[in-house]
Amino acid sequence: MSSRPIVVVTRRLPEPVEQKLSRDFDARLNQDDRPLGPDGLKDALRSADALLCTVTDRLSADVLSAEPRRARMLANFGVGFNHIDTQAAKDRGLAVSNTPDVLTEATADIAMTLLLMVSRRTGEGERHVRSGAWTGWRPTHMLGSQVSGKVLGLIGMGRIARAVARRASHGFGMRVIFHDPYPPSPAEAAALGAEPRDSLDQVLAEADFVSLHCPASAETRHLMNRERLARMRRSAFLINTARGDVVDEAALVQALSDGTIGGAGLDVFENEPQVSPALVSMENVVLLPHLGSATRETRVAMGMRALENLRLFFSGAPLRDRVV
Ligand code: 8YV
Repeated sequence: MSSRPIVVVTRRLPEPVEQKLSRDFDARLNQDDRPLGPDGLKDALRSADALLCTVTDRLSADVLSAEPRRARMLANFGVGFNHIDTQAAKDRGLAVSNTPDVLTEATADIAMTLLLMVSRRTGEGERHVRSGAWTGWRPTHMLGSQVSGKVLGLIGMGRIARAVARRASHGFGMRVIFHDPYPPSPAEAAALGAEPRDSLDQVLAEADFVSLHCPASAETRHLMNRERLARMRRSAFLINTARGDVVDEAALVQALSDGTIGGAGLDVFENEPQVSPALVSMENVVLLPHLGSATRETRVAMGMRALENLRLFFSGAPLRDRVV
């Protein structure tokens, strides 16, 4: 019998992470990579000292109420933790950590990818070439919208938004504006080439591209509802690399179909992995399967960061990335 802490790893992780987890812990790996579901998660809470979990594990108050519970910690693989009922975890004395910083650059790259794809109609162009419909170059074919000189409005100005601001302002010659209730200092904002706005509505009214970078919470659920979408410019594009439920997906479908906004680039959805069928049929929309942090380097770094949180927890040291 091993005296090492038992860690249930809820999904397959990159090999170097699984190898290290198996060396440092009594790691129970998920060879099949099937989500555990509520019953599997309850079993894991009863049998393991910690769970290394992901966005596909809904750790609700009901799941966390599994008894008799052995687990004392949830090491989340990812920065967002809206899939964990943190109040329920806190009430039950469960520690929760996440993996900030290491996925910032990769996620900012995906926000820029979506911005460029939707403005330059590259999804549409790809489909056009692959379908054999392309008849040749012509001056008026598939004209998109210029990015340089345009205004990018960031909703939230945390780590990922700042990385997007740097790319957009210094790399693509965009004007960047933002709103965040806890803004960076004026000097920091100036270094990023970004100007603050006092309200969300001001950003919506001015921006050619609106990119969402706020955490998902009860307060930000459906932040982009019908009224707010209507405050955007008719030619503007919405970019979402945050969480699906920050946008009212039904209202977005409506706004895209009736021309309230120009288009959208989405990496996250309200009911992942389901995507509104209407979105799938629209040409002015780019859809990605939650790829924000999906580079080999980043996923290894996220795993190592989760592992470090587990190591700190079981050695009794303060957690570096404590959420609860
Ligand atoms: C992760 C993410 O891959 O970290 C986040 O919040 O959205 C993704 O990049 C996902 O959460 C894995 O758990």
